[in-house]
Amino acid sequence: MALPETYDRLASTYARMRRPDPRIAAAITSALGDARTVVNVGAGTGSYEPVDRQVTAVEPSAGMIAARPPGAAPAVRAVAESLPFADGSFDASMAILTLHHWGDPRAGLSEIRRVARRRVVLTWDPDFAERFWLSAEYLPEIAALNRSIFAPVAEVAELLGAATIRVVEIPADCTDGFLCAYWRRPDAFLDADTRAGISSFSDIPNRIVADGLKRLAQDLADGAFWARHRDLLDRDSLDLGYRLLVSEEAG
Ligand SMILES: C[S@@+](CC[C@H](N)C(=O)[O-])C[C@H]1O[C@@H](n2cnc3c(N)ncnc32)[C@H](O)[C@@H]1O
Repeated sequence: MALPETYDRLASTYARMRRPDPRIAAAITSALGDARTVVNVGAGTGSYEPVDRQVTAVEPSAGMIAARPPGAAPAVRAVAESLPFADGSFDASMAILTLHHWGDPRAGLSEIRRVARRRVVLTWDPDFAERFWLSAEYLPEIAALNRSIFAPVAEVAELLGAATIRVVEIPADCTDGFLCAYWRRPDAFLDADTRAGISSFSDIPNRIVADGLKRLAQDLADGAFWARHRDLLDRDSLDLGYRLLVSEEAG
């Protein structure tokens, strides 16, 4: 789990490396349905905030708020676990790739449920922890970390009152540089800027990261990586465990 202070440090690179991906954005926009007012919790630098609705951002890291682009929706400095809004203040709440950082996800989910009729959460299924080649073959510490911080999707769905769980396949050229975005671009992990946009790398010791990446670099240099993963080249998008949960209060 990355604390807001971690995000204060990551903020300058984050906006550059974590550009919203248009295909993921389309899935989120569609999930928001006809909501006119939206609260984006754990909003970061504003990725995926729709421009055609009235958006309020909630974000605890001052650094991330400062890195929001000019003209972005107004941001309130607060945490998901205690939202400074009255019940039912918004048509929809959204929480995108943030839930795993919350100190008390149960409380945060209860809050995003309290303030909005419709809830849209993008999270990741920890059962995929060992399925991504980077974690499976080079950095099992990332798999262990993610298993410990991501809640099981069924549990999130229940707490959210989720009606549907949608698979979000990740395009091979995904512009949002989260951990699995580079599934067909292994060289990207050798770049420090790529890693600076991914909190997992800041949560495990440098020495372990360096060892794993040294082995990856060797496998890329001598062809062993692509000999093992030729099948990835046949795919344009892949299910890596990202799930969009959409729930709506009846009536
Ligand atoms: C990976 S970033 C995602 C940001 C944005 N939603 C996006 O899709 O780019 C996770 C964000 O969650 C924020 N965060 C951490 N703890 C939080 C909490 N308890 N409540 C709300 N947001 C939190 C971090 O500061 C960070 O900006």
